[in-house]
Amino acid sequence: MNLWNLKAHIYSLRTSWVFSWILEAEKKNLIKLVSKVGKVKGIILDIGSGTGHTIDILPECRDIICLDKSLVMLNKLNRKRGIHTILHADALNLPLKNASFFFVSSLGVSEYLSDHTLYFQEISRVLKKGGYFLTTISPSNIWNMLRRSWGNPVHTTTTTVIDKITKQVQLSKIDELHSLMQYQYLFKK
Ligand SMILES: C[S@@+](CC[C@H](N)C(=O)[O-])C[C@H]1O[C@@H](n2cnc3c(N)ncnc32)[C@H](O)[C@@H]1O
Repeated sequence: MNLWNLKAHIYSLRTSWVFSWILEAEKKNLIKLVSKVGKVKGIILDIGSGTGHTIDILPECRDIICLDKSLVMLNKLNRKRGIHTILHADALNLPLKNASFFFVSSLGVSEYLSDHTLYFQEISRVLKKGGYFLTTISPSNIWNMLRRSWGNPVHTTTTTVIDKITKQVQLSKIDELHSLMQYQYLFKK
């Protein structure tokens, strides 16, 4: 049973109340990082799209492949934004050719994956040389410990671990920003 198929039905609640303030701070940082790319070219791959939050960060981009492991999330997204391509797949086993994309995003996803090395390896594999990767991690801090104690299976990590993994898979860090529960990163291959 995919937990995200159940969560999909209450996912919009996260934009309410205090959460909207947290999400807005995260979005602001992501927009700042995207502005460092210049023009985002070609078809974009968004991994773990959920109901399409990332698309709001890239409003001018029309060609986005929205990939997610949850069919319910993808159905909700499809109804909202019929213009994008939907792909039901696993972030840790991307059914995509090497060096296919100039821009890959994956926001609010890494903390649900048990293998961060495989995650970055797969993304580096599908990125073109000179391509960009916009992503987020959940740092090991009090807020994410609280999330875990509420029953969220959050795989936190540290900047040291991420720096080590990304170096191994030939991704260079362009910039890194921090908000309360999340660190946002822009990498270049
Ligand atoms: C917190 S939501 C983030 C959604 C969206 N990116 C956003 O920023 O609003 C996490 C998403 O990752 C997806 N996901 C979790 N594990 C995945 C995996 N192994 N492969 C692909 N998607 C996955 C879930 O189904 C869910 O839609």
